[in-house]
Amino acid sequence: MPEFVNPFSGMVPERKMTMEELVRAIRLDVAGELEAIHGYMAHSDATDNPLAKAVLIDIANEERVHVGELVRLLSILTGEEDEFLKKGAAEVDTMVKKIAHPVQATAGEGVPSIGSLKSG
Ligand SMILES: [Fe+2]
Repeated sequence: MPEFVNPFSGMVPERKMTMEELVRAIRLDVAGELEAIHGYMAHSDATDNPLAKAVLIDIANEERVHVGELVRLLSILTGEEDEFLKKGAAEVDTMVKKIAHPVQATAGEGVPSIGSLKSG
């Protein structure tokens, strides 16, 4: 993401980053890739020019690959990123199952209500 107002952007600091700083930097890089995807897709959606749309979508897809590279790097650097990602995926999978098989919202014939469960 451009940082034209930061006069120190792109300059190498007097020291190397710590591991914690590197992890935070990579997280910021992921955010930059996601922002880039958003921008390219928004620009694609905002034009009728077929060549421009094709190029912008192609670039957006390349940025998606970069997200995958950076997330994999985070996984290696932190050693625990995959566990958090798996937990998040599992939470969504649980929601998907609830939506695919929603709980009966209204009691009908043959559907036990709380009252019938209490008396049974
Ligand atoms: Fe990128």
